[in-house]
Amino acid sequence: MLKNFNEMLLRARKAPYAVGSFNVYNYETMKGVVLAAKETGQAAIIAFGAKYLSNMSLAGAVSMARTLCCEYGIEACLHLDHCSGIDTIYRAIQAGFSSVMYDGSALPFAENIANTARVCEAAHSCGVSVEAELGSLAATETSHEGSANDREAYTSPKAACDFVRESGCDALAVSIGTVHGLYTARPNVRIDLLKEIRALVDIPLVLHGGSGIPEEIIRDCIRNGICKINVNTEISAYAVEKTKELLGAAKAPHLAVVAENQQQYVKDVVLKYIRFFTSV
Ligand code: 13P
Repeated sequence: MLKNFNEMLLRARKAPYAVGSFNVYNYETMKGVVLAAKETGQAAIIAFGAKYLSNMSLAGAVSMARTLCCEYGIEACLHLDHCSGIDTIYRAIQAGFSSVMYDGSALPFAENIANTARVCEAAHSCGVSVEAELGSLAATETSHEGSANDREAYTSPKAACDFVRESGCDALAVSIGTVHGLYTARPNVRIDLLKEIRALVDIPLVLHGGSGIPEEIIRDCIRNGICKINVNTEISAYAVEKTKELLGAAKAPHLAVVAENQQQYVKDVVLKYIRFFTSV
């Protein structure tokens, strides 16, 4: 069954642990996430980025997620990741997504608040939860989401407090030093800044740029209020690497075999992160 993330994240924050939000692009990746959630017995967020709409329609993602969750008897949230188009958000809600991320982080502060508030009004009337973003992340070369032009802007604690109060969002993505894409050096994650934000903001906090963050930094983030962590790049990078190995065999495998193996590659990465996120 598809559920919004509200209860999931509040439970995680209390424990504490973090719920993994894993990006999917097709049936194989979605099934990999579902298999890992089933095996660990943990809640999972199936994240479908607005960027990947050319791979799969909103309705297609909803029916696939509903079918897989029902087949494997798990509860998951189907989340629209990083969407700056309000019309697309409305269509996702209509199609049956259980949570959405309105990303107005590139807009002036007042406009980000006003648009997020509009999205919240519509989403909440349908029982759908809303993540918003304040501040912005840089992106490394391996990121498929951002671009080299993305500039890091840390989230201001005071602005975050005003933003949450005025927009009514359910969870806030913060910029504290993580980046989209694989890290080229140890990340300098600002736990001091996270503590200041946490002291002023009482809703679940979200960490983007999860691929490759050292385990001890993840733990520190979770102890200080992060209860949703997003992983995208590593799912793709690992699955592509393993697919290359598979295709390197003397006899080329059937496409059905490639697809089945890809479910396992995704599951491997998701299992690793679910274990990191839940062993604080
Ligand atoms: P990575 O691609 O760095 O894992 O970040 C994922 C993310 O933040 C998705 O919204």
